[in-house]
Amino acid sequence: MSVLIKNGTIVTAEETYRADLLSENGLISEIGENLQVSGKTRIIDAAGHYVMPGGIDPHTHMELPFMGTVASESFYTGTAAGAAGGTTMIIDFVIPDPQENLLSAYRKWRGWAEKAATDYSFHVAVTWWDESVYHDMGVLVKEHGVNSFKHFMAYKNAIMATDETLVNSFSRCLELGAIPTVHAENGELVYFLQEEMKKKGILGPEGHPLSRPPEVEGEAANRAIRIAQTLNVPIYVVHVSCQESLEAITRARNEGQRVYGEVLAGHLEIDDSVYRHKDWEYAAAHVMSPPFRPKGHQEILWRGLQSGNLQTTATDHCCFCADQKAAGREDFSKIPNGTAGIEDRMAVLWDSGVNTGRLTKNEFVAATSTNAARIFNIYPRKGAIQVGADADIVVWNPEGERTISAKTHHQNVDFNIFEGRTVRGIPAYTLSRGQVVWDKGELHAVEGAGRYIDRPAFNPVYEAVNKAAELKRPHAVDRTEQKG
Ligand code: URP
Ligand code: ZN
Ligand code: ZN
Repeated sequence: MSVLIKNGTIVTAEETYRADLLSENGLISEIGENLQVSGKTRIIDAAGHYVMPGGIDPHTHMELPFMGTVASESFYTGTAAGAAGGTTMIIDFVIPDPQENLLSAYRKWRGWAEKAATDYSFHVAVTWWDESVYHDMGVLVKEHGVNSFKHFMAYKNAIMATDETLVNSFSRCLELGAIPTVHAENGELVYFLQEEMKKKGILGPEGHPLSRPPEVEGEAANRAIRIAQTLNVPIYVVHVSCQESLEAITRARNEGQRVYGEVLAGHLEIDDSVYRHKDWEYAAAHVMSPPFRPKGHQEILWRGLQSGNLQTTATDHCCFCADQKAAGREDFSKIPNGTAGIEDRMAVLWDSGVNTGRLTKNEFVAATSTNAARIFNIYPRKGAIQVGADADIVVWNPEGERTISAKTHHQNVDFNIFEGRTVRGIPAYTLSRGQVVWDKGELHAVEGAGRYIDRPAFNPVYEAVNKAAELKRPHAVDRTEQKG
């Protein structure tokens, strides 16, 4: 299908200008004034609308087996809900169990993801270490287009990576030109504090944030960043939720270290009072890690995004319905961790970011799409409005309004953390590789239409990093001299 988007204002991470855009065979084929077409081309009138790169959510967990259950959102329903919200690509996670072979886990997730309605890719988690993991990381990078590996520093006795695993895996990432990413929470401290809470008789969802205070995140973020600094490898910190971890990132960036930070729409907007709600189901529905933080952290995270110390926004979309959350009725540490958001991220970011003046429209595009494409090395195929790029496009109506509700959302979950909020600025149309999948309120997502996106290793960046590391910082230790 060919689509001509006429009379719109194109907004990219760099520019804002009036032009028409033609999509043919899934790609952007022409951008210019007064484009004319004949034949079977569909024409969308985008007057008064912004034409932007479709959103990239770099952190989702569709149908994840986790904490004794499986996330309720499938790769189809989740990507379709994303399309309804203007998101046209996800980067999900392959999470092997400890001792599970990385390649067989990867193949399992690739099979599940064949249902996806929009494009997708995978970070692969390194949850344990031996020579086979070292080897399989190489196969994933060289043969399967994986350029990022995830490390959970929390979830002790499950998928938590030890420091030994972090060091070995980060070092292997450097060899391969892949980027390590971390869920930064000190898993030993979380475990210890969970036990403490239970000894005190705190068994409800209010125990969740008490067992995972901001210091637990700050310590882990700083440790991971320092390990990366020592090994001269870039690092990406997922779901930065608090001042403490943002400070660790900011300090390192100020020292010239290549550190990236991701923030979730939920962490920008919601505070920890939700865990003290009198309705157990309401409080449990908000249980995710890291937890929502005390009032004050949200504004600090916004400043992180505004200053560029945080570069990407995501959702950590990981859905569990009330009957699944009920597994933790008697013990908060057994409530499956996860909340939804893929359908709402772009509108919430626009409403709280652009409508308030915190972000320019171009910064919005960078934070919802382009920066993720750049960091994970798929730019300008994704995250760009350029001739030759994939026609993953959102036509944005800045005056359109929607009241968010679990009753009307497309996400396959019975709760919405943004319930009742009216947002101004919504997608009118979403195109996924040229197909109109969201059409003025109607969802036309097609199961299986999404494609796996290879993400090449980024050696040029690493060469720069290694060069920069050669320049001695004032306080740096010269290890070559130490050896002598
Ligand atoms: O609570 C969360 N975030 N669940 C999904 C797994 C993770 O930690 O990202
Ligand atoms: Zn996480
Ligand atoms: Zn996650």
